[in-house]
Amino acid sequence: MFAERDVVVLVGSLRKASINLKLAKVLQAIAPAGLRLDILPIGDLPLYNQDLDTETPPSTWVAFRDRVHRSDAVLFVTPEYNRSLPAALKNAVEVGSRPYGKSVWENKPGAVTGASPGLLGGSAAALHLRQVLVNVNVAVLPQPEVYLSGADKLIDEAGSFSNDGTKAFLGTFLSAFGAWIEKLA
Ligand code: FNR
Repeated sequence: MFAERDVVVLVGSLRKASINLKLAKVLQAIAPAGLRLDILPIGDLPLYNQDLDTETPPSTWVAFRDRVHRSDAVLFVTPEYNRSLPAALKNAVEVGSRPYGKSVWENKPGAVTGASPGLLGGSAAALHLRQVLVNVNVAVLPQPEVYLSGADKLIDEAGSFSNDGTKAFLGTFLSAFGAWIEKLA
């Protein structure tokens, strides 16, 4: 049970059948009372280009920046692409980090998780993302680190993560994140 907190969730995969999107939805469903998880799409953000960052930037950038700015915390749920984070997610970080001095990430509590069909669960992507988030001053939950390996095999016929072990594991992560947000509030 936590004080009411508005958490924006950014999913690093853009595909409809994304395992990570499924993971984000399970996290949304099992979040402890008080933690409200809202998945914010990032696929329609134009690639960051400083020439576009004028008095009238793209409307999708404005809406994205505003939504993240209003949130209490940010949860990143990402696959690993070529041992790093997907470009779409890095682009979202860039968009939120500018204009200079107006970054929406500043002092935001955050957490990183993800899933991969591979053996390492996308941990290299998460570690790269953590490194990036240090630069934009997101205070990332240090532990527990939760990366789901062999994630395709954890999905049931209904297309979700329903087994008790995985849900309990994810619940531990969310409780720690909730406590982290309270600590930094
Ligand atoms: C991958 N995949 C992958 N997996 C991994 O564990 N480490 C990696 O470095 C990569 N690299 C990689 C690059 C690219 C361009 C793609 C498309 C995929 C496999 C990846 O984990 C798998 O496709 C996941 O299902 C992608 O996540 P979503 O879309 O299911 O959320």
